[in-house]
Amino acid sequence: MGSAVTGWGSALPSLRVDNNALSQVVDTSHEWIAKRTGIHSRHIAVDEDATTLGTQACAQALEVAELGAGQIDLLICTTSTADALLPSQAALIRARLGASNAVCFDLNAACAGCVYALSTAHSLLQTMPNMKRALVVGAECMSRIVDWTDRATCVLFGDGAGAVVLERSDNDRGVLACALRNEDDVDDVLRCDQIYSCDPPFSADGVIPCTQEQIAANAEAEGVGLEQALANAHCTGKAPLVRMKGRDVFKFATRVIPQMLQEACHQAGVSVEELDLVIPHQANERIISNAAKKLGLPLERFHRIIQETGNTSSASVLMALAHAYQQGCIQPGQLVGLVGFGAGLTAGAVVLRA
Ligand code: COA
Repeated sequence: MGSAVTGWGSALPSLRVDNNALSQVVDTSHEWIAKRTGIHSRHIAVDEDATTLGTQACAQALEVAELGAGQIDLLICTTSTADALLPSQAALIRARLGASNAVCFDLNAACAGCVYALSTAHSLLQTMPNMKRALVVGAECMSRIVDWTDRATCVLFGDGAGAVVLERSDNDRGVLACALRNEDDVDDVLRCDQIYSCDPPFSADGVIPCTQEQIAANAEAEGVGLEQALANAHCTGKAPLVRMKGRDVFKFATRVIPQMLQEACHQAGVSVEELDLVIPHQANERIISNAAKKLGLPLERFHRIIQETGNTSSASVLMALAHAYQQGCIQPGQLVGLVGFGAGLTAGAVVLRA
């Protein structure tokens, strides 16, 4: 039994921001960004959010698979930029989509989330008798968490969503093997803290630092309203932003992409040379070409959309996979390798027969 890809879709916010526009925000240039990363533009969600983008990508994938939303048994959303902490992003998309029979949950493996989610969906389709059809969606609004004053990171990321339908199949089509790996990020090379907007009104020694009486007294002394004084007392006001040591991430990526593809191919009983197409995480064109060289594969075999999208984190591989299908770059029976890496540190690859 396998899990076949029967539908695919993607969504981009309507606003396209090219490198020249970005150079009006931070001290950078089209030449620098294009040469160092291969990125020419990215899309930024202004009117959209992860729910609208994810739902749009899922609806497209369902249409290709000729399925109704009610026929989906499992919906996994991979994201690091969910619209809400509660409920899950998957639950928000499920409701918007009308996938009322789907079990749903989120999975966060940072930018490698796509391969982790595909592996998880594949495993559940093989082991849960009542699950036959799954939607795997990556929906990201990275523009919410990048530091728009840090030119070394904000130029890299974009927003978007990608989705695939996986269906349990009786033939040899679909997912053949998955390889997943984690390494401790001891040097914090890629991190975005979760800073909640409220501090609990207690300290470890049991002393209550801000009682209602104190806040009310402060409000009166400072001449501000009680509501404002309460907000000032309990809200940190700090926003979580991405921090990255670019060169370290670069080294990690160029090491693990070949390793994970080789491992997944080995498990699938095929050689890397047999892959008709590789869909890599779209983080940096130079990372992709470096990995291609290490594997001894022509760069043309690596499907790339990075020029138009930038790094859309866990949505990127799913978006590139959908793009490859839409462009007719994947024919039935062909072998496709998907490979991702990201914060954590996470890495993984999936080999499938289209
Ligand atoms: N525009 C212009 N100059 C920039 C710049 C920008 N957007 N960003 C950095 N620079 C400057 C630096 O300040 C530095 O200047 P200096 O030499 O005067 O100090 C110079 O460019 C080189 O910086 P460096 O960080 O060494 O560049 P790099 O060749 O390593 O490229 C990255 C930087 C981020 C593009 C690259 O390291 C990378 O892609 N890393 C992987 C990141 C990634 O994929 N993250 C997501 C993983 S899921």
